[in-house]
Amino acid sequence: MIFQQLQDSTSSTYTYLLARRAGGEALIIDPVFEQVSLYVDLLEKLDLRLVKAIDTHIHADHITGLGALRDLTKCVTVMGERSGADVVSMRLREDEVVDVDGIKLRTLYTPGHTDDSYSFVMPDRVFTGDALLIGGTGRTDFQNGDPFQAYDSLFNKLLKLPSELLVYPAHDYRGNTASTLAYEAAHNPRLQVSSAEQYADIMNSLNLADPKMMDVAVPANQGVGKDLSKYLQPGEVVDAEELLREVEGGGVALLDLREKGERRRDGVIPGSLHCPYLDLEGALCNGDTLQNIQQRDKKRVVLYCAFGERSALALDTLRGYGFKDLRHLSGGLGAWLRAGGSVESPEGTN
Ligand SMILES: [Fe+2]
Repeated sequence: MIFQQLQDSTSSTYTYLLARRAGGEALIIDPVFEQVSLYVDLLEKLDLRLVKAIDTHIHADHITGLGALRDLTKCVTVMGERSGADVVSMRLREDEVVDVDGIKLRTLYTPGHTDDSYSFVMPDRVFTGDALLIGGTGRTDFQNGDPFQAYDSLFNKLLKLPSELLVYPAHDYRGNTASTLAYEAAHNPRLQVSSAEQYADIMNSLNLADPKMMDVAVPANQGVGKDLSKYLQPGEVVDAEELLREVEGGGVALLDLREKGERRRDGVIPGSLHCPYLDLEGALCNGDTLQNIQQRDKKRVVLYCAFGERSALALDTLRGYGFKDLRHLSGGLGAWLRAGGSVESPEGTN
């Protein structure tokens, strides 16, 4: 496995790059905007295709690299379902798995530092975001932080994982790079408490200054996905109400770009075809599905995903391959449901 721990010294943030092998697919956790060109250089050097970029939570001390990486690589942006970011491409619930080339990370909801904090668990390590730091824990005094929730995340979730797991946090301010859950349980001063009340007393008496970047970083990070217009041309957007009317009239083919797990979890628009976003280019090279639908069936193809991000990126890619007359569903399945559209189980639909 390729594993790189990269540091942004200004914010003392750790960013992690993971891949199964050189020449394969890669994943980045907690990228920092100012370091994006470094990540891209590294990806090129290792001949890696970045397919997913994850933020463990909305950061207050730096601007995320998620949006810039998406723009440069068309990767899928990922956060937990509680995230307040406007458009992330994929939202994960507790216990769901992110799979990149066989590297599997299980989602663990670990709120308390913020209410959108998630950790990501592998068989030998855990990425704890700011929930658990080396010799410390994330502050709980802004972004809906809550010391009682943090206590629960620490003692009833993270410390219940196998104690030998390596701990890789989103920050370290003293030059530490990794720890283990066993070491933290025994030596982390914040974890030497006997009750949630005692933990809350400690956290509530810290009186820390706000992070310098907070007023800039939080709004920027909430707006990470805002501008999809650069991927779209006039006539390539359909809103959910309009699509509902068109579907009733026939003549529309829907192509779902989400992954299997999302389809099972949230259902599919009835009659949809399926091609996962990350397989789109391969699928086009191996077959002519879209061409058949457009030319043989004389149907107008509408691409959709969870929130409209992957479909906008895919449309831009497909246009580059010469496809014309495609549209994307603005706001994705979320907008479809809000407009009163129905869904069905994906079994047997393709
Ligand atoms: Fe944080």
